[in-house]
Amino acid sequence: MTIKQQVINMLTENIGNYISGEDIAAALGCSRGAVWKAVKSLKNDGYAINAVTNKGYKLDTDADILSFEGVNKYIDKKLSGLDIQVFSSIDSTNNYLKSIAESGAKEGTIAIASQQTGGKGRLGRSFFSPADSGLYMSILLRPRIPADKAVRITTVAAVAVAMAVQKAFSVSADIKWVNDVYIKGKKICGILTEASLDMESGGLDYAVCGIGINIYEPKDGFPEEIRQTAGAILNKRTADAKNKMAAELINSFFELYTSNNEKAYLSEYKKRLIWVGEQINLFRGEDSISATMLGVNDDCALLVRYHDGTEATITSGEISIRKKT
Ligand code: BTN
Repeated sequence: MTIKQQVINMLTENIGNYISGEDIAAALGCSRGAVWKAVKSLKNDGYAINAVTNKGYKLDTDADILSFEGVNKYIDKKLSGLDIQVFSSIDSTNNYLKSIAESGAKEGTIAIASQQTGGKGRLGRSFFSPADSGLYMSILLRPRIPADKAVRITTVAAVAVAMAVQKAFSVSADIKWVNDVYIKGKKICGILTEASLDMESGGLDYAVCGIGINIYEPKDGFPEEIRQTAGAILNKRTADAKNKMAAELINSFFELYTSNNEKAYLSEYKKRLIWVGEQINLFRGEDSISATMLGVNDDCALLVRYHDGTEATITSGEISIRKKT
């Protein structure tokens, strides 16, 4: 671990309290100058660290800055070989990973940003990704699965987000078919998986699973078009929330993704699924039809009953659902 990582760990463990440069240096077995250099670099990354003569250094209690060191300290030690890259701003973490996947980047490369200037959503929409409010993450995967099984990546990610919200903040989250995570009826997360086909095998060359999470409501509120539906996980700034959430998400995602126990993840998905038994509208482009939502099958395809009594199984494709009001 670098001195910088160890310094931020110590400051986080003592959040809200001063520790002297001398004590940090003694604990880490380095010089006070090295501590000062590490603090300077952490401040450059955006950490709210107070430095006061004769007192030392203190991390503000509500400091919530996304950083590699901050995420890495919560990553499960079992997970080796991840390449986590943190950006304060990027156009789209999905676009970035797709471009490096083309030049051979490995499975487990992860891009996380505090802001996206060109965030992308499902169905060709944009994804609102302002600074200092959310967490925007993409995970590069190279699964050996046929293309029609790629939806599993998205559904695994939805379960992982819900589990991570629980672990990081003790808040319970639901899943709206197929890939949105809700808290108290508001969308706090959307997921967009983009895949590239390997023409020879008919399987996937790579998949990029992009996850956008609203940690806090944006300073000026959500834009008009999503104000009714969008929500955030937390209603007040919380120390280290983004780093914790990012790491718990990575931990949960890889636990589920690499597990052979398909049943455990599926039952978690089904348990958290909302609107089962309720009236919904199914949208394909401009067209919509109402139906009763019956649930999902073991491939997470949607099961519905139309008003004429016929039943249908719908794979995610270009369909989205909304509750009938
Ligand atoms: C949706 O709800 O329509 C899906 C939104 C997916 C947004 C995430 S944020 C990280 C990644 N990068 C993007 O440009 N999009 C995904």
